[in-house]
Amino acid sequence: MATGARPKVFCSWGFPEAGLAILREHADVQVWDGPDGAPRDVLLDALRNGAAGVLALPPTDRLNVEAMDLAPDLKVISGFGVGFDYVDVPEATRRGIAVCNTPGTLTETTADQAWALMLGAARHVPEGDRYVRSGEWRKYEPALLLGTDIHGATLGVVGMGAIGTAVARRARGFGMRILYAGRSRRPEAEAETGAVHVPLDDLLRQSDFVSLNCALTAETRGLIGTRELELMKPTAILVNTARGGVVKQAELAAALRAGTIASAAIDVFEVEPVAHDDALVACKNAVFAPHLGSATFATRARMSRVACENIVAALEGRRPPFLVNPAVWQD
Ligand code: GLV
Repeated sequence: MATGARPKVFCSWGFPEAGLAILREHADVQVWDGPDGAPRDVLLDALRNGAAGVLALPPTDRLNVEAMDLAPDLKVISGFGVGFDYVDVPEATRRGIAVCNTPGTLTETTADQAWALMLGAARHVPEGDRYVRSGEWRKYEPALLLGTDIHGATLGVVGMGAIGTAVARRARGFGMRILYAGRSRRPEAEAETGAVHVPLDDLLRQSDFVSLNCALTAETRGLIGTRELELMKPTAILVNTARGGVVKQAELAAALRAGTIASAAIDVFEVEPVAHDDALVACKNAVFAPHLGSATFATRARMSRVACENIVAALEGRRPPFLVNPAVWQD
């Protein structure tokens, strides 16, 4: 880079201007402005052509060895979101590339979405909406679209991190008993929500609603499959706002078809977008959303700001506020 030249930053999507405006003050910013996110070859070209920073969309963009091999000047990968399963983090660390994310920006919003889906599935909100619009509704019927009570039921939270805790906090307002499973005890979350730590199998057996809120890691990939679904109550509802890969999707579809569990409320899929003829999408006893966990105006603007501040800090030689791989940073 010539002395005084501004670093190049590539943004794989037209992210909210709240963040891009910050970036533009410090860098030559190339924003992909096509209708969808940048195709892979465009991302790779930008890396090849000297991008020092990339603002990427998890979980879609794949910042793997192939991408890093092409990126001689890359110093920082900043994800528009919390999950970093889209980056080969050990490889980035080995090459001294900072990987950043936006924890704290979307915790409450994603917990709201888990609840929206849980309520939607429990009380047949999408089916009711379709029924009214169809013109089939003739009269108030005592047995129409009967659902499941949430108040007083048992909620099982898998992964009591920030989002899991926010989901559990809301459950207190519904008078729910709260169980949680995860590698370690979370005394603060227990004190705040009254949640009780139990082994995963016990949580699955006892819960009326199971909310997945863990990160996708080698340990959690495929965590919920046929065996786990068979432990659940036949009346139970599974809610996934974490990552599709935490659930074995074909096995969930089979369990829904067989009535092993009553319903599922799914925001995330193994492959996104999910194929419209996927066996899971064919299940009537499920409610879907197209990965909308953090999708509010305010939260998306916040995510953009934090993701861009991470890039600016890294490019200026300051420790980024939210660094996934602190090993790359020697103060
Ligand atoms: C969105 O999925 C995120 O990882 O923040």
